[in-house]
Amino acid sequence: MNDIFILGIESSCDETSVSIVKNGCEDIATVVLSQMDTHANYGGVVPEIASRMHVENITIVIEECLKKANMTMDEITAIAVTYGPGLIGSLLIGVVAAETLAYVFNKPLVPVHHIAGHIYANNLDKKMAFPLLALVVSGGHTNLVYMKENYSFKQIGGTLDDAIGEAYDKVARVLELPYPGGPLIDKLSYDGNDTYDLPLPLNDNSYNFSFSGLKSAVINLVHNEKQRGNSIRKADLACSFQNRAVEIITKKTMRALHEFNIKNLIVAGGVAANSVLRNHLMEACKKDNINLTIPSLKYCTDNAAMIAVAGYFTYKKKEVSNLGIKAKATSILH
Ligand code: KG4
Ligand code: ZN
Repeated sequence: MNDIFILGIESSCDETSVSIVKNGCEDIATVVLSQMDTHANYGGVVPEIASRMHVENITIVIEECLKKANMTMDEITAIAVTYGPGLIGSLLIGVVAAETLAYVFNKPLVPVHHIAGHIYANNLDKKMAFPLLALVVSGGHTNLVYMKENYSFKQIGGTLDDAIGEAYDKVARVLELPYPGGPLIDKLSYDGNDTYDLPLPLNDNSYNFSFSGLKSAVINLVHNEKQRGNSIRKADLACSFQNRAVEIITKKTMRALHEFNIKNLIVAGGVAANSVLRNHLMEACKKDNINLTIPSLKYCTDNAAMIAVAGYFTYKKKEVSNLGIKAKATSILH
């Protein structure tokens, strides 16, 4: 069988990334150009600036990736691109770049859902085993997804309001940490103790999550203490917030594994980089004999390798598009 090389393009938020992956599992070359430093000046991603920077960078990143792989477009089997969900202006740049490459080099074009990409990042480290439960924790999503087999997605729970990464970033902001604050809260929490009395959010029998109450509890606490002229023990608050978030995510994930009798858990999305979440899940899975896979750190946050892997499985299913992919700001994984 001939090897299949997918060139993936990801531009849904503030990373311009291009990758070439062989047979859905081997990262040949990946380039990620992050705009994080620019957006940090504004305390979050500015959509207009993001799309403008994607325009400036996309060609450079495509060329750099091909050079790094020491390959030409002739050797590429198909082009995969994130069509959504994400910032519409940013998505459009990746989609137009992919359509142009497909047209010029006469290659099949494969649309990929961003969350499918995050899930399939796991195939880069180890072949995914089914049935599995995917815990998706990112800046825009908090979902529990049941996968009976390749490319079959059944959502069993999701967030009712803020995504977990969003809550991390907003809490970080009130603690005066720069954007994106998730990794900084993770780090800061090791200097503190769980001393603040915060609620365990949506501690019910569903598989849904809600982080806006927990986030608001932190924001209100900070405001009240400031008004009273008291100082905040930032590391303690970071630790208390994180413990509550990680506890509820771990609790509901483990319950879902038992109820659906699933033996494989994979974690996906930027918050999968969180060290405390990783440790809690590792411990719980070891105790319950669950096979746990978490992507290596570089594949947790947005990157095009994950899009190329998901694109490989989409391509194998022959879900190839003509030159008319529609970028979608919101889109349900199916
Ligand atoms: O998946 P991702 O790169 O982008 C989206 O698709 O949303 O996730 C970005 C999110 C941000 O909210 C960031 O603060 C969070 O992932 N994040 C973390 C950590 N590393 C990244 N949150 C907590 N702990 C971390 N170590
Ligand atoms: Zn993402």
